[in-house]
Amino acid sequence: MGQRLSGGRSCLDVPGRLLPQPPPPPPPVRRRLALLFAMLCVWLYLLVYSCAGSCAAAPGLLLLGSGSRAAHAPPAPGPDGPPPRLPFPAAPATQSAAGGEVAEGATSQEEQSPETPDSPSPISSFFSGSGSKQLPQAIIIGVKKGGTRALLEFLRVHPDVRAVGAEPHFFDRSYDKGLAWYRDLMPRTLEGQITMEKTPSYFVTREAPARISAMSKDTRLLVVVRDPVTRAVSDYTQTLSKRPDIPSFESLAFRNRSAGLVDRSWSAIQIGLYAEHLERWLRHFPARQMLFVSGERLVRDPAGELGRVQDFLGLKRIISDKHFYFNQTKGFPCLKKAEGSGRPHCLGKTKGRPHPEIDAQVLRQLRDFYRPFNRKFYQMTGHDFGWD
Ligand code: A3P
Repeated sequence: MGQRLSGGRSCLDVPGRLLPQPPPPPPPVRRRLALLFAMLCVWLYLLVYSCAGSCAAAPGLLLLGSGSRAAHAPPAPGPDGPPPRLPFPAAPATQSAAGGEVAEGATSQEEQSPETPDSPSPISSFFSGSGSKQLPQAIIIGVKKGGTRALLEFLRVHPDVRAVGAEPHFFDRSYDKGLAWYRDLMPRTLEGQITMEKTPSYFVTREAPARISAMSKDTRLLVVVRDPVTRAVSDYTQTLSKRPDIPSFESLAFRNRSAGLVDRSWSAIQIGLYAEHLERWLRHFPARQMLFVSGERLVRDPAGELGRVQDFLGLKRIISDKHFYFNQTKGFPCLKKAEGSGRPHCLGKTKGRPHPEIDAQVLRQLRDFYRPFNRKFYQMTGHDFGWD
């Protein structure tokens, strides 16, 4: 009885009996704190190492680098920093920086692909010391519903391509935010890697050619084009999925259907006048800086089309047939291994939607309407896309 266990002393430790004692162990609070600290160190250590393996491979991110890639590049430049790095053998870099404000944040205003995370998490940003943010050297400028997401997702498999997942809409909606804001949206890249983005509305934005040229005359421009009639139906299908109460395709497509008067002012029709839009681009860019990707072939033979794209971008041909498989359920080619996850990856539900049935006579009328524009487009690009 009368035992006192507190303080680590035994019942024999009573006044008057001084026995030799070992040094007192640390009080429990200090011991617990020491243990907590040790656990924190182990946790931090594990975090750094797991990030080195996975974050570097995350889509749109380049953090601690991966084995095949070059050594660390210099830190990010200031807001008006150097011109875009050009991995192409082409002309010297020419860039006139506009804007100059400090980036407010990488907010995307439109289509964010849910299956392609693109903004670094706070933790990965913390560890993303390698590389620097560059203005894009190549942009997918269109066309809406042409297959732009597929092209970007497939290109991202290439180790020398880094791209923003969401559409920045800088040259059409946010130009007043300045180039520094725009660059801040970009993922970090190492020397030799290409920075890319896609915003399909640029192709039909009047100001976009001059603005992109003002950023860099050497920007490579990619346009995914698709039969304008199918593209119009695809565009309509997308709107219908958001607003099921819109009028029928047939009624929107014509000003006067019996007279065969197509409504060119309807954006679904207007976007498909490729020759007219292209004329504006050719006032600012030489044809050799533009590549027209066939949306149809991108579905039929993605590796073949990606071969052309890699050549155009001056990239080693790495993406090939072995990267794709045809997913029967989806009805489209998918990636065997998505960048970052290593798992099979098809585009999301909003890509490859079933289209509503459209009156065959209406489709014929639209084909007739587009024929002269298509012919002109074939002449301008030197390529017959076979839509007629
Ligand atoms: P539909 O949904 O009408 O079939 P964008 O990405 O420019 O919005 O284009 C969407 C279109 O990309 C889709 O239109 C689809 O036809 C096409 N596409 C091309 N390759 C695809 C793929 N591998 N998976 C899904 N859709 C693809």
